[in-house]
Order: sequence, then C-alpha cells, then structure tokens
Amino acid sequence: MKMADNSLRVSLLVRFGLGVAALLVLDALACYYTALYFTNLVYDRWLIDSTRSLTTAIRPQDGRVAVALRPDALDVFRFDEIDKTYFKIASKNRGYIVGDKELTDLIAIPNGEPRLAYSKISGRQAREVTIQIRYQDIDDVVTVSVAETLFKRAKLTQEILLAMAAPQVGLLIAAVILSWLSIARGLKPLTDLAAELEARDHDNLSPVPLTDLPHEARVLVLRMNDLLKRISSALQAQKRFITDAAHQLRTPLAVILLHAERAERATDATAEKKALAELHVSVRRAARLSQQLLTLARSEPNAIAMEAFSSVNLTAVARQIGEEWVSIALERQIDFGLSVPDQLAIVRGNEQLLGELLSNLIDNALQYVPANGSVTVRVELRDGVVLSVEDNGPGIPEAERARIFERFYRVPGTAPEGCGLGLSIVKEIADAHDIEIMASSGHDGKGITFSVRFPNVAKGRI
Ligand SMILES: Nc1ncnc2c1ncn2[C@@H]1O[C@H](COP(=O)(O)OP(=O)(O)OP(=O)(O)O)[C@@H](O)[C@H]1O
Ligand SMILES: [Mg+2]
Repeated sequence: MKMADNSLRVSLLVRFGLGVAALLVLDALACYYTALYFTNLVYDRWLIDSTRSLTTAIRPQDGRVAVALRPDALDVFRFDEIDKTYFKIASKNRGYIVGDKELTDLIAIPNGEPRLAYSKISGRQAREVTIQIRYQDIDDVVTVSVAETLFKRAKLTQEILLAMAAPQVGLLIAAVILSWLSIARGLKPLTDLAAELEARDHDNLSPVPLTDLPHEARVLVLRMNDLLKRISSALQAQKRFITDAAHQLRTPLAVILLHAERAERATDATAEKKALAELHVSVRRAARLSQQLLTLARSEPNAIAMEAFSSVNLTAVARQIGEEWVSIALERQIDFGLSVPDQLAIVRGNEQLLGELLSNLIDNALQYVPANGSVTVRVELRDGVVLSVEDNGPGIPEAERARIFERFYRVPGTAPEGCGLGLSIVKEIADAHDIEIMASSGHDGKGITFSVRFPNVAKGRI
C-alpha cells in the first residue's frame, strides 16, 4: 500500500495511539499512587511499632515519669542504613525528657492511638508518629514521637514503579503492533479495491465486483457502479450517434458533389438549370438531415439530464408550435386545427424539447396526409395531461408500428422525403421525460394518432 499523506491507516493508528498514550499516563499515575500507598503502609507499620516499643520504656517512678532506656538500646533503635531516624519523649510535667529536640510533636490523639503525618525536621521531609499516654495516678501526660526521613520509601516506590513499567511498555508496543496489523486487516477490502481500480485500463467501465466488501465500501462501490453505468451508456450513445451521423451524411454529401460537378460541366443553360435544381433538393435534404441529427443528439437522455427541467404549460407550447406550422399546412391545403383546454396544463419537463417533440409529430402529419386531409393538435386534461396529434392520412400498418421509432427506419414505400429520425427524436424526448409515446388509429379508423400522457398536473385557469 502506498503511504499517502492522508493515509487512513496512519490516521487511524495515530488516533488509536493517542488514546492508548492518554490511558498510559492515567495508568502511570495510578501505579505511582498504588506503589506509594503500599510503601507507606509497610514503613508506617514499622514506625508505629518502634514508637510503641519506646513507650514500653516509660514508667512512673517516685511520683513522676521516668525513661528506662540504655544508650545501646537507643543506638539499635536509631540504626538505619538509608534514612535518619529521630525520637523524642516529653511529658506535661517534666517537659523535654530525652531524644532529639528538633522533633516537633504532632497534635496527638488523647486515647493512646498513634497519629501519623508528614513533617519537616531540620528542613528535611519526614514521616512522623506521635503517641500520647496518660498516667492518672501521677497526673502526667507523656508524648512519644518517632520520625524518619523518606529516602527508603522513595527508593522502594521507585523500584515498584520500575518493576511495573517494564510490562507496561511491552504492552504498549504489543498494542501498537496489534493495532497496526488489525487496521491493515480491516482496511484490506478498501486497499484491494484501490489496487484493482488502479490496475484498470482507463477505458474499462465495467462494474466493480461487490464480493467480500464490507457494508460501507459496498455502498460506495454501488454508487460508483451506478455512475460507471451511466457514463458507459452515455459513451455508447455518443459512439452510436457519431457512427450514424457519419454514415448518414456521407450519401447526401456525395450526391451534392455529384450535382455540383454536373452543373459545372453543363454545356447548355437547360442542363445547368436542371443540375442546379437537383443540387438544391440534395442540399435541402442534407440540411434537414443535419438538423435532425443535431436534435437527436440534444434529445439523448444523457444530454437532457444536464438540462434543467421545470414546469411547462403544454397549452402554451401547443399554441406556439401550432402557429409555426399554420402557413405550411395552408400551402399543403390541409385543414389544421388546434384544440386546447381553458385551463393551464402544467407538466414537468423541458419546454424546448417538448416543443421539438410536438414539431416532429406535426411535421409527419402534414408530410404524410394528402391535400384536403385534416390534422388536429390536442391538449386534454384527463388523467393528467394528454398531448396528441391526430390525422386522417394513410395511417401506419399495425405491423410497422413497433419499428417506426427506430433510427432511420421509414415504412417501406413512403414517398415523401425524410430521413427516418423524427419519431426517434420523439421517443428519446418521451423517454427522458419518463412518459410513453402511443400510436393508435384515428377516430374513424383512418389515419393515425400519436399521443403522450403526463402525470401530476397542476390545474388552473389561463
Ligand atoms: N402521420 C403519419 N402518417 C403516416 N405515416 C407516418 C406518419 N408519421 C410517421 N410515419 C411513418 O413513419 C416513418 C418514420 O417517421 P419519422 O418521422 O421517424 O421519419 P421521417 O418522417 O421519414 O423522417 P424525418 O426524420 O425527416 O422526420 C415515416 O417514414 C413514415 O413512413
Ligand atoms: Mg418525420
């Protein structure tokens, strides 16, 4: 795996490591206080025992307290390799009796219980025990204090800490290694996926397999496959369009060239005029073909997805497009009618493309209906909005209706000019709007009616 700057593995390990380090600091503090507690426990017991044994040397004698301590016994008591030990015996009546004067007594507990506390002797930190004994019969109170410096305790605490630290450090190293390995194991599906994607050819748009992927990565790959599918279909559509366009434009362009050469070579005015007339027709055909091809390219669902859909009033679209065709209908002597409701007929779509859809249906009707025929454009509000173009021309045989939406398909024997793209454009636009285009025979069984139905209409008056 490449170690990128923002590697997931490293950032997971850093977060985990920081958490472990914080826990270790807490653990070290806990260890320190535990070690200190037990060290104190052990040495405090010893200090209390020493104080108690000192108290046994005190007894009342001749009406006052006396200390029966031999100097060598005191030496034994004071012997310590590391620390300095202090003691002092004093009484209420006699004041200081024996021991180290610099030792300050603690405020004692009256019932003879030992009192333990930290104190300072000649500027040094020490641990001290004070026991008070009351002698009723001679009316005196004796205070016995014993103290020692803290070096032994510090040394033992240190030794305990060191003994505890070694396994802790081992544990930390083991935790880091284990977490590095488990993070690597956990991220394996992702790193495998990245490796597979990196190894792919740039034109390989096949879906990425979903096997062995954890849920999080599965969602990512599903979305990515979805995107790959759309890109692939857009590319295929583009390729298909370019192939179709190149193939279809070749013939009319060759014909144009032929007629132009004929016009150039014409020896008399009549031949030249005839060649020019033919040239005109072929240029018109080529122009129509390129215009239809461009409309088809714009109608591709993938291209449409890029354009904004909005609320479109189909009544207004029908009026506007209808008006554009009136003069052609008049020229061809066709009774051209428009039937729209008083209400708004709002649908969701792309106004320009819906105009193109209607234009192609009207174009066909006016093209294939003979003179004196009739063509009606309708917008109806029933079960949504229905837009239809009805004619009473020759109609289309049932058997042909499945194929007329294919690109460049024309019903065999169709005389008027055309390139076979109009209904493919209509179908592409209908598909992009997620609606179905239907072809049915006219009302009296004659002609053909093409219709599309839009759902979810917002009704209102114009
Ligand atoms: N209203 C109609 N009446 C009879 N036949 C029709 C009608 N509309 C379409 N057709 C048939 O369907 C075929 C396909 O129509 P389409 O509009 O796709 O292509 P075209 O009209 O031939 O060419 P263009 O791309 O120039 O429109 C036509 O060639 C024609 O045979
Ligand atoms: Mg047509």
